[in-house]
Amino acid sequence: MDRRNFLKVSAAMASSVTVIGAGSVMASSASTSGIIYSAKDEGQWKGKNGSHAPAIHIDGSNVHVMTRHGMSEAHFIVRHTLVDAGGTVLGAKTFSPTDKPASTFTIPGGYRGKLTATSFCNLHDLWVTEITVN
Ligand SMILES: [Fe+2]
Repeated sequence: MDRRNFLKVSAAMASSVTVIGAGSVMASSASTSGIIYSAKDEGQWKGKNGSHAPAIHIDGSNVHVMTRHGMSEAHFIVRHTLVDAGGTVLGAKTFSPTDKPASTFTIPGGYRGKLTATSFCNLHDLWVTEITVN
């Protein structure tokens, strides 16, 4: 993906996060199909969910995000973010091809509600996983 397409997808993601914050549209809705991918909507990247949708593990107030994806100069995970139900970005981490695609973010104490983790692959676009903290 060239820089122009990356920016296009990033802009689409930003507008989608706003919509998600309004609580009216889920990340895998028809309006984001082909822009944002998930386990439920692999779109053109059918079969790539396991290596692209971020895995989320919560340990107290720490949220661990990992993408089970190889890392090389030609093909790597570029970035993770974690966004709360209100659309607030709780954290972001940008990777280089020599990094492990794993990140840890802190959520506010007592937080309840949806969390969305994003993982962006330089070849296979933007993937999201949503969980609910009860
Ligand atoms: Fe990929």
